[in-house]
Amino acid sequence: MCGIVGYVGPRQSRDILISGLARLEYRGYDSAGIAIIDADGGLGMRKRAGKLQVLRDDLAGHPLADGTTGIGHTRWATHGGPTDANAHPHLADDDKLAVIHNGIIENFATLKAELVSEGYEFRSETDTEVAAIMIGREYAASGDLVAAFRATVARFEGAYTLLAMHQDHPGLVVAARRNSPLVIGLGEGENFLGSDVAAFVEHTRNALAIGQDEIVAITPAGVEVTDFRGEPVEVEPFEVTWDSAAAEKGGWSSFMAKEVSEEPEAVANTVLGRIRDGLVDIPELDGLDDVFTGINRIVVIACGTAAYAGQTGKYALEQWARVPVDVELAHEFRYRDPVIGPDTLVVSISQSGETMDTLMAVKYARERGARTLSICNTQGATIPRESDAIVYTHAGPEVAVASTKAFVAQITALYLLALHVARVRGSLPHAEIARHVRELEAVPGKISRILEREQERTTQLARWMADTRSVLFLGRHVGYPIALEGALKLKEISYIHAEGFAAGELKHGPIALIEPGQPVFVIVPSPRESALLHDKVVSNIQEIRARGARVIVIAEEGDAAVLPFADEVLRIPLAGPLFEPLLAVVPLHIFAMGLATAKGLDVDQPRNLAKSVTVE
Ligand code: G6P
Repeated sequence: MCGIVGYVGPRQSRDILISGLARLEYRGYDSAGIAIIDADGGLGMRKRAGKLQVLRDDLAGHPLADGTTGIGHTRWATHGGPTDANAHPHLADDDKLAVIHNGIIENFATLKAELVSEGYEFRSETDTEVAAIMIGREYAASGDLVAAFRATVARFEGAYTLLAMHQDHPGLVVAARRNSPLVIGLGEGENFLGSDVAAFVEHTRNALAIGQDEIVAITPAGVEVTDFRGEPVEVEPFEVTWDSAAAEKGGWSSFMAKEVSEEPEAVANTVLGRIRDGLVDIPELDGLDDVFTGINRIVVIACGTAAYAGQTGKYALEQWARVPVDVELAHEFRYRDPVIGPDTLVVSISQSGETMDTLMAVKYARERGARTLSICNTQGATIPRESDAIVYTHAGPEVAVASTKAFVAQITALYLLALHVARVRGSLPHAEIARHVRELEAVPGKISRILEREQERTTQLARWMADTRSVLFLGRHVGYPIALEGALKLKEISYIHAEGFAAGELKHGPIALIEPGQPVFVIVPSPRESALLHDKVVSNIQEIRARGARVIVIAEEGDAAVLPFADEVLRIPLAGPLFEPLLAVVPLHIFAMGLATAKGLDVDQPRNLAKSVTVE
């Protein structure tokens, strides 16, 4: 949440900053701003409430003098509403210093009171301005921007990435990071800073991951990284594996539409390189057999869509690897004194790898002696760096705020993990593992078939339902987390009340919500694979039909038993029971997107949300 970009080099920085911000806009989009040290050594700044386009239009109307050192910010408001004044950058030291910030300085009120008593005046309600004034105060005393950072961050509590530049030092941008994301892009005679690699991937794919509590100074000639005490630290280089085209819309009406179309590749690429002799062997997990045989419990922690992927993965981990699994929302996990220790494997799931709630839960688990494994889609992100082991999903960059292709990739990674652990623990015969591998490898083709055959009809259905005020989603077994995901997607992007229920729970309360015309999606398990469950869900459909619900069924091809009770049937190809979620979720993603589009909403940047939530 909040996107940050910095540039030093020979090129004019304005367009570099703006295009970096465009790629980071998914992190927050309620205001944006840039500051540039111009050729005459002056510091210019422009910031505007609203989406980046508002800033772009402002700059087009009243250009800012360009220069080769600059910083830019796109905001998701925490302290102070989304106004021009609260937008970043914030200026200090007689407007010669510009500061941008991602995160929350938790003790800002105390620090602000101190500054006010010293006579400093504030132009915004933000915690960031406190940081700007403090850095400015230290800089005025020492004339050394890095030293000013060091002195200032020592007084901060909370999580932050801070970037600053001072007009006395063209060609220098300084940054500090604690628990908020920051990566460096290494160019030829130019260097970049970004909240993630998307900020600079069009200029360089060579990157450095910055650790916790480190201060970075970039100049055109190089990069210096020190810890908060000023000691030099080694940084880890990595190469960005995707190119900038992967983060472009490329002719699609929205990033979400593009990303849903990429669901087959997201699954296929996540499986790639992890199958050996027909069994799952994840190279990143080499040497961890002892961990997998030694654990007696797995706790999965995640937020939002990733948590629903976790709930789906639980079925596979328990059924195949025979390890008890609890799935918890990361923000609930560490506040209830959970029973964990060295025999617990804590698996975190995060597309961004930066979700603060999840990060804090991972740290907590480590402190308690648990082993930690991260399933993540973003290289160089914080959560994998804080974990003992990493299994990357290879979904490619996901830009739309509502997660789609990352969700199917996360389930795929969990299934791979379950089959890997099953092999190591000997809990499943090899022939069974091989059969599941073949099923998994067939999933991309099946998703493609849904996209080809059901996309138009599902979108049409969504259009007809554009005025609907509430939609319910029912599922059973692995269909249950998919019902939750269907409801979340609809809430997130179409602002319609939506709820997901376990179909069996219906009669214990939610059925009271059913009135004539209430649309209900029902995910029906395969009659071939789970006849008992199938028949129970068909009974549930009859119960709601009898009360006037409008039933939209997601059922496998050839399942005729649902026909008499369904107003609409969306078909998915035949698959083993645990593989149905990877298929059933696809029409739900298409439906949410179709409905939000029919309502004229921005599906990529829904109100109030941000893709990467780096505050608790
Ligand atoms: C935010 C996003 C959700 C996402 C969740 C977890 O709330 O709006 O779409 O599922 O964060 O994100 P993560 O990056 O940890 O998977």
